[in-house]
Amino acid sequence: MAPSAGPASSASSAGSAGSARPVVHTYWETAGATMTFTHPLDQGLLERYVPRDARILDYGCGYGRLTARLEELGYGDVQGVDPSAAMIERGLREHPGLKLTRQTALPLPLAEDSFDAALLFVVLGVVPGDADQNALVAELARLIRPGGVLYLSDVPLQDDERHLRRYEEAVASAPYRAYGTFSTPDGGLFRHHRPEQLRALLHGNGFVVEEERTGAAATLHGHTARSVQVVARRAPAP
Ligand SMILES: C[S@@+](CC[C@H](N)C(=O)[O-])C[C@H]1O[C@@H](n2cnc3c(N)ncnc32)[C@H](O)[C@@H]1O
Repeated sequence: MAPSAGPASSASSAGSAGSARPVVHTYWETAGATMTFTHPLDQGLLERYVPRDARILDYGCGYGRLTARLEELGYGDVQGVDPSAAMIERGLREHPGLKLTRQTALPLPLAEDSFDAALLFVVLGVVPGDADQNALVAELARLIRPGGVLYLSDVPLQDDERHLRRYEEAVASAPYRAYGTFSTPDGGLFRHHRPEQLRALLHGNGFVVEEERTGAAATLHGHTARSVQVVARRAPAP
């Protein structure tokens, strides 16, 4: 499948008011839905902030890899949502008991403050637009109760030559996209972030960063990249 020519093109931008469709690149209904995800969850970090009885949302859960992992770890109230039909079908096939739902519009049909914690694993990295990312994090701020936590993991800007070349080529061919956004030969569209940009996105939506770590993660395409993990707390109500 060819990379899409313009900004993530399979859905319109998610806005802040009324019902809007989250941006989902078609890759996640096709080649992307056959991939094996390996971006690591740090169990110690999770356990430090999220007790076993927490109500947890796995946002952009894909085929339920981490939703299933949390259940294995003894978390009893976990659900996953993802806009891709192919991902949710696969997740329900591979893990028939999991609570996985396809959700294609924002706001999600879930009550505000109804979660104690949410995971956001390699989702901002596939939603390249600033406004779309902001709508996504604003929705998480609506769903996570004051004092609850968001555990985010993604891929920051890399500094190796292969990535620097890739970023520069992407700037030349699609200068309207944020720096760090690039297409892969199999049709994926990804964005690597400056960590300060992730912090600003969280802060702008009422989250306070509690802990941030860097590590390494295998990418979807078989390379190793630096990763960044952030636990942020939704500011308690004044
Ligand atoms: C790299 S996968 C990660 C899946 C899962 N979080 C994991 O780590 O195993 C990215 C997921 O984000 C989903 N996604 C794409 N656009 C999205 C959006 N606007 N809102 C929420 N999820 C989205 C895709 O369908 C895909 O399942």
